[in-house]
Amino acid sequence: MSTNPQAPSQTRSRYTVTAALPYTNGPIHIGHLAGVYVPADIYVRYLRLTHRDVAFVCGSDEHGVAIPMKAKKEGVTPEEIIDKYHSIIKKSFVDFGISFDNYSRTSAKIHHTTASDFFKKMYRQGDFLEETTAQLYDDEAQQFLADRFVIGTCPRCGYEEAYGDQCENCGSSLNATDLIHPKSTLTGTLPTLKETKHWFLPLDRYEDFLRDWILEQHKTDWKPNVYGQCKSWIDDGLKPRAVTRDLDWGIPVPVASAKGKVLYVWFDAPIGYVSSTKEWAEREGKDWEPYWKDKNTKLLHFIGKDNIVFHCIIFPSILKAMGDYILPENVPANEFLNLEGNKLSTSKNWAVWLHEYLVEFPDMQDVLRYTLTANAPETKDNDFTWKDFQARNNNELVAIFGNFVNRVVVLTNKYYEGVVPEPGAFNEVDQATLAKLRTFPQTLSASLDRYRFREASQELMNLARLGNKYLADEEPWKVIKQDEERVRTIMYVALQIVSALAVLSEPFLPFTAKKLSAILQLSSLDKETDWNDVSSRETLLPSGHNIGQASLLFRKIEDKEIQAQLDKLEATKKANATENKAIMPQKETITFDDFSKLDIRVGTIVEAEKMPKTKKLLVLKVDTGLDTRTIVSGIAESFSAEEIVGKKVSVLVNLAPRALRGVESEGMILMTENSDGKLVFVNPDEDAVGNGETIS
Ligand code: MF3
Ligand code: ZN
Repeated sequence: MSTNPQAPSQTRSRYTVTAALPYTNGPIHIGHLAGVYVPADIYVRYLRLTHRDVAFVCGSDEHGVAIPMKAKKEGVTPEEIIDKYHSIIKKSFVDFGISFDNYSRTSAKIHHTTASDFFKKMYRQGDFLEETTAQLYDDEAQQFLADRFVIGTCPRCGYEEAYGDQCENCGSSLNATDLIHPKSTLTGTLPTLKETKHWFLPLDRYEDFLRDWILEQHKTDWKPNVYGQCKSWIDDGLKPRAVTRDLDWGIPVPVASAKGKVLYVWFDAPIGYVSSTKEWAEREGKDWEPYWKDKNTKLLHFIGKDNIVFHCIIFPSILKAMGDYILPENVPANEFLNLEGNKLSTSKNWAVWLHEYLVEFPDMQDVLRYTLTANAPETKDNDFTWKDFQARNNNELVAIFGNFVNRVVVLTNKYYEGVVPEPGAFNEVDQATLAKLRTFPQTLSASLDRYRFREASQELMNLARLGNKYLADEEPWKVIKQDEERVRTIMYVALQIVSALAVLSEPFLPFTAKKLSAILQLSSLDKETDWNDVSSRETLLPSGHNIGQASLLFRKIEDKEIQAQLDKLEATKKANATENKAIMPQKETITFDDFSKLDIRVGTIVEAEKMPKTKKLLVLKVDTGLDTRTIVSGIAESFSAEEIVGKKVSVLVNLAPRALRGVESEGMILMTENSDGKLVFVNPDEDAVGNGETIS
């Protein structure tokens, strides 16, 4: 606890900060860290350094279809899966300095009780609709196809692997029955429909509340990407959403007539923030309620963009229904991080796994934290590249931050045996440098208060630049020969900057800050230094104070280390290509009659243009010999519109027409995929055939 006399004497402001509960169906990678946990941790460490009262809670998300699916794949029980990944994930967070006050799990008893209580209260209040509707069912597996048990084409963006509850491409939250061409992920079969009873949260009842609370009250302070998603959701018309599932994994629906049904994972998981807070409060001997019910508490949710609708629309509606809960003050969601130009993917092993990173770059957590922050996908998707990682490390952390600190510590030991010297009179440069130094807490706060972590990380580096430039300009190692008094002043000023770095870098580079504090022996000062002291204290490191020996804060990363990482990714690509080829099993046998129903013709693409606001879709005009018709094709990621005009293609012409994004598509172009995942046309021999010829 600081003894800073300037600390506000009124009660400290209270914050409840949550970070998305990760699914325990795999370890976590740099995308999770960059999008959610590093920004949340920076923010919380900053709040603590400025004396705010914070509960920083998280935990494992152990329900939902993701878990039994993974269990099935690994041939073990769901319990084994959650135990395994819960401990791996929890350890990664500790390893990377993510400083949760509590890390819980949704399989914990306290969570089952809390989530059931939420449901029961809302049930009693009549907040749910009880309805029997037809849901997708897999006849072969004899089970309902909830959420990830079914994939199909997203009706909003055309993405072909959207889940039954959510499209990870455009972020839409879906009902399974909305999917175009649904397919069971259990058996690959076409689902049938079967009646079943469920409880629905009628989101339409919350429209007025959401409009006012988000669209009016948070028009200017929520990030545009978050606000925009909410607005389009609300404007599209909110519909009732089922909050229960036919599944044997999850929290049983606490209603007598609901045997065999569980709460939808997105109903129970956000309540996990509350359970985690309760667990923490119980352990610390505190009261959890003010953290969720006191109007003066600021609730903040750190999440990735695929979680926006759940945290901004659905969970707030639940909190509202509960009556006495506060609503989030802000939901600073990030976009996605890519890796070397491709989407991060757990199933394709296209990732930098945190536990593997630490084996290859031991004790270099801060380098990754820094790189991910400097490149955070704050306003748009962003790319992580190993070259950039190396450059940020070598050119910034090593060459600026580390170099400056090291020179100051080494010279202090060399000239003064580690004792901070007594300064003489400050000249104009000294005064300007010290004045500039005092502006940093405010500058950093201004960025952090607006959740601009990239900007803040660059401001921090500017502080190190200030020090580096001061030393380079003042050249104490030269001046020492003529003017020892002047050097005492220079070193004193430089030491103040080093000491400010030790304090202000803590949220970003907690391991480095700790090392630096130890080098400076800050703990032997009679007063602790905190964030605002950097502005307000006359001296941060007083004359006469003894510092310790230098030790390197950062090391250079060699080209060969980067090459090794790139080789590893290349190997992953190759492995995926071979696996893709090897694993596609032959489909069910069809009869000759089935086959002869397919009418495949040679056609020529005569026009092509991009479907607006989609990544994948091209709208084609194809001369089929029978007619010239419109076909919407999901090939835009493999071909530009220009390059395919004039191309001969094979077309399935008697496929029932369907509308994609409001454009009627009459047929399908036959494609295959090469080993790099690029689509290629199944071409007829160009010269030998004319449009309209049948292919058989
Ligand atoms: N498990 C979800 C995901 O990884 C996030 C859950 S956040 C919570 O996308 F709010 F539900 F906890
Ligand atoms: Zn979509």
